[in-house]
Amino acid sequence: MIGDQDAADRSRQAFTERFGSAPEGVWAAPGRVNVIGEHTDYNGGFVLPVALPHTTRAAVARRTDGLVALASVQHPGKEIRTGLSDLTPGTPGGWAAYPAGVVAELLGEVTAAGGVSILVDGDVPSGAGLSSSAALECAVALALRDMLELDLDLADLVDVARRAENDFVGAPTGILDQSASLLCTAGHALFLDTRDRSSQQVPLDLAAAGLALLVIDSGTTHDHAEGGYGDRRRECEQAAARLGVGLLREVDDPAGLDVLADGTAEGDVLHRRARHILTENARVLEVVAALGGDADPRAIGPILTAGHASLRDDFEISIPLLDACVEAAVGAGAHGARMVGGGFGGSVIALVEADAVDVVTAAVTERFAREQHDRPRTFVTVPSSGARRLA
Ligand code: GLA
Repeated sequence: MIGDQDAADRSRQAFTERFGSAPEGVWAAPGRVNVIGEHTDYNGGFVLPVALPHTTRAAVARRTDGLVALASVQHPGKEIRTGLSDLTPGTPGGWAAYPAGVVAELLGEVTAAGGVSILVDGDVPSGAGLSSSAALECAVALALRDMLELDLDLADLVDVARRAENDFVGAPTGILDQSASLLCTAGHALFLDTRDRSSQQVPLDLAAAGLALLVIDSGTTHDHAEGGYGDRRRECEQAAARLGVGLLREVDDPAGLDVLADGTAEGDVLHRRARHILTENARVLEVVAALGGDADPRAIGPILTAGHASLRDDFEISIPLLDACVEAAVGAGAHGARMVGGGFGGSVIALVEADAVDVVTAAVTERFAREQHDRPRTFVTVPSSGARRLA
């Protein structure tokens, strides 16, 4: 992880080496961890993410030949060049699909500008459930908005980036990651109601309370353009349809879910999926309430661990390694721990006493070794800034 000035210099230099002239500017957008509120976003529910200090940068300049040219410091080799009118889901694929998807969303404006060159660089761990893909989309969306002076506010850019992910990359996600990357502010968690898009910045100074938020990247990857994530989304939609509501958010009382449990295996699954969404929305509200006023933030620990149990048992998107990681962290004294992100791999967060970070890290590392898994990557994070122009 490097500071904004070094990041800007590095991106500017890499762009100039690659494209032979200086970029018009450099923008950065962060990855995120979600404190609580998992899979609630596409159900119209609540989320509470914080931005990571890790960012993806986009150095950008207009072209005159009607092409989009994409290069990445993390993926050396020849840059990808495509005619703007040739952009279509799958072309380009891989990492380039994310910036290309944003360009495709703003096709008219980029075409009128004559094309665009984009150099990306970054340090958000990828495939770790920390939203490296949203960081990439949001850095490019903000860069194009500013460089082309487009009349779009941050909420519009959330939609541009989310549509790139849904329509171009093909991952049927909600707006959690893009909202976190664009709207989070340093020192705060973003309390977002994904139904009406209202939000509130919740002060979160764990260090002042002697606490630390430890991130444990398990090293197991996930891909939301595939299987499991889309299945969960469909199951939630089916549950809502059977309940006669547009979104599960509209159900307040857990007893209202009982009709789903009709004695069939399918009914049982839909009941548990919906129960996760209802209880998870309640947990977000509980955590926000616990962080308000003079309350001790340690109080949120057990709520995080309960969220993990719900993701494991009702939503069934955890994996044994993440369960073991949560168990080891809590066993070593963490106030609470849970998997974060879309699931089927990725990272765990643990709320720990600042002076217990080493003990918890050692316990988790030892547990990974016992599970015959590579050592996890761990770091303490603080709520950091959202997307911004660096140069
Ligand atoms: C992924 C998606 C988000 C959200 C989370 C789960 O990160 O991109 O939209 O659904 O999973 O909370």
